[in-house]
Amino acid sequence: MNVCIIGAGYVGLTTAAVLAKLGHTVHCIDENEQKIAALQRGEIPIYEPRLAELFTDHQSRLFSHHDGQKHIQEADVIFICVGTPPDVKGKPDVSYVNRAIDMLIPHVSDHQTLVMKSTVPIGTNERIYERLKNEGKHVRVVSNPEFLREGSAVYDSFHPDRIVIGLRDDDDRSLSVMQTLYAGIHAPYVVTSLSGAEMIKYAANAFLATKISFINEMARLCDTYGVDVVDVAKGIGLDGRIGPHFLQAGIGYGGSCFPKDVTALIQMAYEQMVRPYMLEATKAVNDTQINWYVQKMKRTLGELAGRRIAVLGIAFKPNTDDIRESPAVLLINKLHAHGADVIAHDPKATLPHDVAVKQAKTIDEAVKKADALIVATDWDAYKQLNWEEVKRMMNGNAVIDGRNSLPREAIMNAGLHYIGVGRR
Ligand code: UDX
Ligand code: UDX
Repeated sequence: MNVCIIGAGYVGLTTAAVLAKLGHTVHCIDENEQKIAALQRGEIPIYEPRLAELFTDHQSRLFSHHDGQKHIQEADVIFICVGTPPDVKGKPDVSYVNRAIDMLIPHVSDHQTLVMKSTVPIGTNERIYERLKNEGKHVRVVSNPEFLREGSAVYDSFHPDRIVIGLRDDDDRSLSVMQTLYAGIHAPYVVTSLSGAEMIKYAANAFLATKISFINEMARLCDTYGVDVVDVAKGIGLDGRIGPHFLQAGIGYGGSCFPKDVTALIQMAYEQMVRPYMLEATKAVNDTQINWYVQKMKRTLGELAGRRIAVLGIAFKPNTDDIRESPAVLLINKLHAHGADVIAHDPKATLPHDVAVKQAKTIDEAVKKADALIVATDWDAYKQLNWEEVKRMMNGNAVIDGRNSLPREAIMNAGLHYIGVGRR
């Protein structure tokens, strides 16, 4: 098939590479000229494992354009993968989606299929279908939300747990178009209405975020009892009804999806006059989780002002350079606001310009002379540190495990003081 992808971000680029590997010819279109120029030079503008190789291996079927008029006209399927960032109230801003539709309308024709991959508020795809129809364009509209995780986007795209397809009742063609498009990917299809698919996306992210806030709340409780939350997560996770995934307590969830999607669903519930008690609680726990770690550090170090603190990790999670809504950045800002002398490190991510904290080039540079060290993003590099060496380089001996991912015994055997929330 001939495929067009509007929006060459994390989701757009991953979708493009996967479809090219499946044999389709893919044209990426993005309004960001620098991004397109980089792609045309063969440079992938984001760090995502395996993505660059896929682009190289399938470059004969992968193209990038700033102005994609011709390719939109010739496409069998057009994907929308533009951003839907939150507006001031936390409602999803669909202006990029609307702008993409504005750009498309003059060029699309009745035989084409328009596929929404961006996370959009409930009812958006029905509105788009009506708008196209009012413009005399009987284009089939499909809602096909993605569930890929950054850092494992390529793997997740080739091994999805399910493929969700939202269709209009009167659409008897698009399901087979999507099955042909994804031929080669083996996963159950969930076929529902356009709004049903939109709701599945939000509910999935909200549930995962709620699981994280639940275990973080348990970690706080465990902390007061001297119980190990890792044991608790293991003990409840073996119950097939609960499952072991997304029960890793720590400084909270971040990224371009969970924070904005939970807030968006809360706003949608208010509009629908439904009180979202659970979602409010999920957000409230996540908004206050970092404070528990800062309080622990104050109890350990006393006043933080003037203390040299090494923060290992800037990205919102390992294996990505993405810092959007990163809990690590929030922590760095909070410690800085307490007057601490903070130095940060990350293997791939870079501190935002507005964060007035030094970023070390090496782990050693960050750790040297530190009074305390906190791991805020659980990169493997930090889990495999030589703790005797760390002890020698630090001034203090406090090691705070912000992601419950460090080897506690090895740290204590090295004479360091291991600190966690909900860790016995
Ligand atoms: C996006 C959405 O943010 C997310 O809600 C959804 O689930 C999947 O798609 P992501 O791929 O991470 O996620 O977005 P981002 O990395 O911001 O990429 C969006 C791209 O669209 C950017 O490259 C931007 O330049 C481009 N864009 C945006 C356009 O080309 N045209 C527009 O009108 C707006
Ligand atoms: C998420 C969803 O997993 C994915 O299906 C959806 O398409 C997009 O949003 P992503 O944002 O890339 O993917 O990251 P994810 O791996 O889900 O982690 C999100 C945040 O939760 C990170 O900050 C991570 O550190 C945190 N997290 C995750 C925990 O704190 N504990 C856990 O057990 C799991």
